[in-house]
Amino acid sequence: MNNIESIKAISCLKGKEKIKVLFVCLGNICRSPAAEGIMRSIVEEHGEADCWEIDSAGTGNYHIGELPDNRMRIHARRRGLELQHHCRQVTTDDFYEFDLIVPMDASNETNLKRVSPSEECDEKIVPMAQFFNRFAHFDHVPDPYYSGAEGFERVLDLLQDGCETLFNIIKTNNTNA
Ligand code: 4NP
Repeated sequence: MNNIESIKAISCLKGKEKIKVLFVCLGNICRSPAAEGIMRSIVEEHGEADCWEIDSAGTGNYHIGELPDNRMRIHARRRGLELQHHCRQVTTDDFYEFDLIVPMDASNETNLKRVSPSEECDEKIVPMAQFFNRFAHFDHVPDPYYSGAEGFERVLDLLQDGCETLFNIIKTNNTNA
């Protein structure tokens, strides 16, 4: 996490009534629906659900319509999260709808730039690792699909860290507005 408030997409959120965030990974069945669920639980815990629009999508189209991967649902449930998102693919319109588009790794970021309609919209892309605090030594959220249980637990730890930082930054930004 490196002077994140100076990133244009973050400073542009100052004073907004509703913050619209889209989390993106490859399949939209492991990392990004988990990020969506964690972010939702953080804003609900703080009584701020009405101020946020939170969604997730995949750059790939392999699992459209499916619920998240069973392994991710089981690990998330152990932390009190029910993941109910149905997989969808990211679209050009997402770049107009959302303020912040958060890829999990560099490959997701490259793929997002192919879908982005303009350089201005490219600026809405801010990788998840930018928000890491306790896990600042990680530069991406590793794909857990071919990993064991520890891979899924690691993803949830990283996302909890990143989403808490994202929430705190927006909150501080808007309180000082
Ligand atoms: P995700 O994980 O990008 O975190 O949802 C994956 C899910 C499915 C596949 C790859 C990664 N797949 O190749 O089907």
